[in-house]
Amino acid sequence: MERLTGKVALVTGAGSGIGAAAARRLAQDGAAVLLTDIDAAAGDETAQSVAAGGGRVAFCAHDVTDSAAWVAAVARAVAEFGRLNILVNNAGISGGRHELLDHSLEAWRQILAVNLDGVFLGLRHAGPQIAAAGGGSVINISSILGKVGLGGAAAYCASKGAVTLLSKAAALEWAPLNIRVNSVHPGFIDTPLVSNALATREDGNEMRVALMAAHPLGRFGLPREIGDAIAFLASDESSFMTGAELVVDGGYTAQ
Ligand SMILES: NC(=O)c1ccc[n+]([C@@H]2O[C@H](COP(=O)([O-])OP(=O)(O)OC[C@H]3O[C@@H](n4cnc5c(N)ncnc54)[C@H](O)[C@@H]3O)[C@@H](O)[C@H]2O)c1
Repeated sequence: MERLTGKVALVTGAGSGIGAAAARRLAQDGAAVLLTDIDAAAGDETAQSVAAGGGRVAFCAHDVTDSAAWVAAVARAVAEFGRLNILVNNAGISGGRHELLDHSLEAWRQILAVNLDGVFLGLRHAGPQIAAAGGGSVINISSILGKVGLGGAAAYCASKGAVTLLSKAAALEWAPLNIRVNSVHPGFIDTPLVSNALATREDGNEMRVALMAAHPLGRFGLPREIGDAIAFLASDESSFMTGAELVVDGGYTAQ
């Protein structure tokens, strides 16, 4: 028996990396999945590849910073699959490296808009539909950088730290509605977000080696390893977990 049969999920930022792996895994576990992404070509391609594997999926272009786009995305999930049970607030940006002494307000706002406002809007717009379905599971993708700091990434750390506590506040508020809300904290995962950030640095190769060594398991994580954690939180196997931080980081924050 597939553990998510009969469930409907919406995954943001599903065109690439962790979101694509999560959508694939949720579909493999039997959920119907609405993939959304600001990059329509990437999202469409991922949806087609998940559908080719037998998944019940659809794609909707969607900017998570746009309230009206959230209304349309949630309506599309319900129109396509009948209800909404699972929300994966995954879309995010690294926003590049910014030293605080030279940090523009514009860059700060852009990073907070996608990584934090996007999660708030997801809760705000998907929450009523998940409640109407009798409850469900929300998985917010934070980061190890929502638990520990990193120089040059102040806005990213601030956004991910805020997602950690936003998740706990939502978990408390929504426990009576039977909606569980948890955060996932990946270590460095081999996705375009990381490789593009490293590619902008002259010392990108050395940095990659140093970052891998900062994980006691000695490597970056795979998107699939985060997709598996997300599917666990989406399923009834985690039925007594809410307001929890699921760290999947190869030991990075154990040190
Ligand atoms: N890769 C890592 O090492 C790592 C570690 C910890 C947390 N995370 C978090 O995991 C999530 C996914 O990251 P990833 O590594 O898969 O990145 P990625 O760049 O591979 O994928 C992110 C996806 O989000 C989409 N996106 C960007 N802005 C958007 C917007 N405004 N609206 C909708 N979609 C938008 C992009 O088009 C892209 O398809 C992010 O929240 C990221 O912060 C990543």
